[in-house]
Amino acid sequence: MDFKAIDAMLDYFKDEGYISHALRVWGYATGIGAGEGLTGRDFDILQTAAVFHDVGIPEGMRLEGSGAGPIQERLGAPIAMRLSRPFLPDEEAVQTVGMLVGHHHSFTYDGGPLLQMLFEADWLVNLSGEDMTTEKRRRVYDLYFKTKTGRSYFACVYPDALR
Ligand SMILES: [Fe+2]
Repeated sequence: MDFKAIDAMLDYFKDEGYISHALRVWGYATGIGAGEGLTGRDFDILQTAAVFHDVGIPEGMRLEGSGAGPIQERLGAPIAMRLSRPFLPDEEAVQTVGMLVGHHHSFTYDGGPLLQMLFEADWLVNLSGEDMTTEKRRRVYDLYFKTKTGRSYFACVYPDALR
């Protein structure tokens, strides 16, 4: 991927909480993508979508007083497309980033392998929240972790949930 995308993300958020979340999700997405054999174009698209996946949250807060899933998906997709365009090879890749960001909380939507990897990367981070329980982590694992790499990451990060 073009790592200048990270600079653009930092500049967009200007907030440590959003930035560290994005970098953590990007890190997991990179590992899952590599583990699942992604290379080239698809790997670039996944990594770029991970960097920008939450750009709809501050916009949702600003315009609608909420960063809830459907709101941030709807508002975030066009922003992610605009921000990622300089770092992607063509318009089809930009559209795919829009699809990924626009569905990254739609866990029952079948958006293909890249969306599945983005789901898993985001869950690996979000399940660390203090409000999460071992039972909730286990439920999410059973329902939403499908890739071999994502499942093995989960087992390392949340071993208690699989006991
Ligand atoms: Fe996220």
